[in-house]
Amino acid sequence: MKTFSAPIDNRAMIQCVHPLRLRCVMLELIDIRVRLQSKAGAVNILRGTTVAAQAGQSVAVTGRSGSGKTTLLMVAAGLLRPDSGRVLALGEDLTRKSEDELAAFRRRRVGVVFQSFHLLPNMTALENAALPLEFAGRADALDAAGAALARLGLGERLHHYPGELSGGEQQRAAIARAFAASPSIILADEPTGNLDSATGADVADTLFSLCAEKNTCLLLVTHDASLAARCDRRVVLADGLVVEAAG
Ligand SMILES: Nc1ncnc2c1ncn2[C@@H]1O[C@H](COP(=O)(O)OP(=O)(O)O)[C@@H](O)[C@H]1O
Ligand SMILES: [Mg+2]
Repeated sequence: MKTFSAPIDNRAMIQCVHPLRLRCVMLELIDIRVRLQSKAGAVNILRGTTVAAQAGQSVAVTGRSGSGKTTLLMVAAGLLRPDSGRVLALGEDLTRKSEDELAAFRRRRVGVVFQSFHLLPNMTALENAALPLEFAGRADALDAAGAALARLGLGERLHHYPGELSGGEQQRAAIARAFAASPSIILADEPTGNLDSATGADVADTLFSLCAEKNTCLLLVTHDASLAARCDRRVVLADGLVVEAAG
């Protein structure tokens, strides 16, 4: 039986989803609206935002603090349901899935990298990176996670807890965890935001080279213009709307 985590060639997969399309859309956020209640009243956080990324493509989402970047990323991950609009990932409409279906989809197809790493503090780097594989029922979870960590230069840090790792090492462990199940889409929210510039550049190099190596689609939220410039396309958000797109 084919397991959820079986390696999948993104291009082959998407050709089968969209046989007539020359360029394959991997992720499409269409006219996304999110309105949240705060103590001060309702806030329209996303007001009809549309962003698309092709297979293997990197798209930077930039914009001032509060413009809705993190909210958009959460919608793309299926972690936040929009009030309206559609989220298509590998041709599947995430807005129509149940919570259980979303969780299963995320485990197989999506890796998320956060600014503050979000590693579980009472688990080692190896256990953290193995977690998504264990959820996916992979018998070789620890071996595969170990290999992913070694690929990221953490072969000597497998049994270290997050508190025993530098910021750069923690983010590398988080990247290993995000890539562990060979997802088709990586969503990264300010992945270098908590790192000094040299470490951040190093982590960014790793992220871009892994995406290229595995033909993974990358949606990268960043304040950093030099990081955004490395992406194939850039969109700028202001007040919950795309105001500029380039590339
Ligand atoms: N849970 C929430 N309830 C109400 N407003 C929120 C909530 N989360 C974020 N916001 C508001 O939504 C706007 C966009 O937030 P966010 O997506 O985090 O922006 P960015 O990542 O671009 O800084 C901000 O004005 C923020 O204050
Ligand atoms: Mg943010």
